[in-house]
Amino acid sequence: MAGEAFVTLATNDNYAKGAMVLGRSLRNHNTTKKLVALIGLQVAEPCRTVLSSLYDEVCVVDILDSGDAAHLAMMKRPDLGVTFTKLHCWTLTRYSKCVFMDADTMVLSNIDELFDREELSAAPDPGWPDCFNSGVFVFKPSNETYNKLLALCTETGSFDGGDQGVLNSYFNTWATADISKHLPFIYNLSSIAIYSYLPAFKQYGRDAKVVHFLGKMKPWNYSYNPQSGQVKGHSLPSDLRQVHPDYLTLWWELYTNYVLPALRQAYGQTAFNTGCVEEEVSVAAGELSAPAPPHPPQVSSEERKQRWEAGQADYMGADSFDNIERKLDSFLK
Ligand SMILES: *[C@@H]1O[C@H](CO)[C@@H](O)[C@H](O)[C@H]1NC(C)=O
Ligand SMILES: *[C@@H]1O[C@H](CO)[C@@H](O)[C@H](O)[C@H]1NC(C)=O
Ligand SMILES: *[C@@H]1O[C@H](CO)[C@@H](O)[C@H](O)[C@H]1NC(C)=O
Ligand SMILES: *[C@@H]1O[C@H](CO)[C@@H](O)[C@H](O)[C@H]1NC(C)=O
Repeated sequence: MAGEAFVTLATNDNYAKGAMVLGRSLRNHNTTKKLVALIGLQVAEPCRTVLSSLYDEVCVVDILDSGDAAHLAMMKRPDLGVTFTKLHCWTLTRYSKCVFMDADTMVLSNIDELFDREELSAAPDPGWPDCFNSGVFVFKPSNETYNKLLALCTETGSFDGGDQGVLNSYFNTWATADISKHLPFIYNLSSIAIYSYLPAFKQYGRDAKVVHFLGKMKPWNYSYNPQSGQVKGHSLPSDLRQVHPDYLTLWWELYTNYVLPALRQAYGQTAFNTGCVEEEVSVAAGELSAPAPPHPPQVSSEERKQRWEAGQADYMGADSFDNIERKLDSFLK
């Protein structure tokens, strides 16, 4: 029987860092599956080298040069370039089944049992539970499915401008047809869920298997002090610290202990200031010089509500637990 693989996608050096941590987390939990990284042309050579040390296969995806339907699709819908790149995972027909994971996810335990599920299995999206979230899904590579997905994209576009819209339009019976294709909460632990759904989190959080760093601020947008073990500008409310580890810190621990040494080697000791290691000079010096995350612009509360509903809560900032708690307190007084 042909192999099974975890597949991720990195379109640039930042997402490549995420893919490195994801790959490391899968390896640390002794996955028996193959690991495949799809990467865009922009990913720098040293980052490719590090990815190759973690992944069994690193495939450069150049849609414009693919010579298949994707090329034509891209001419018609240049806005969907990244989406087409992600859909490319269906062409991995040398594998019989795959689990796609976004590069901003990280596993907390072995999740090989996901391969017992069928296409298309995924977890509900926090913003609209009748849709699935396309950050983690089980699929069966097939050129036929790939071509149909491309055709759908070119004909109707994507209702959310990205792959999640296209995939939900194509696998449109997901919500109703077969409940075994709904992945449970433990595969669906967005870092937002921790803040927006505390009771469920306290109940299920300890069983969490996958963390998904949804939202605009990604783990690589923070900076980390390895001496103190602190992520700058981030702290977990103390009642949460008792129930679960701090996932952002966990990400940085993996990055610092496993990924960074490999990146240093790939870039060579002297050429630190380029590509994927830019910010790490500071870590090397045990000193934080990476710029603090920019202060997010003020947004109206209507806008914030819309973002919240779209699953894009600014949970580290305006929608942080502290702020919400303060607001509740002021209502109660
Ligand atoms: C993975 O396998 C190694 C070697 O067999 C073992 O020492 C380690 O505890 C395993 N890790 C996990 C998370 O099971
Ligand atoms: C799917 O398409 C790719 C690229 O055109 C080709 O290499 C592969 O053999 C095809 N797979 C099958 C199962 O036909
Ligand atoms: C997935 O997480 C969201 C919150 O992020 C929650 O609303 C939803 O119910 C969860 N899905 C399942 C199947 O537990
Ligand atoms: C995160 O970092 C990347 C690369 O430095 C940058 O392009 C992106 O805008 C940053 N995102 C936020 C929300 O600051």
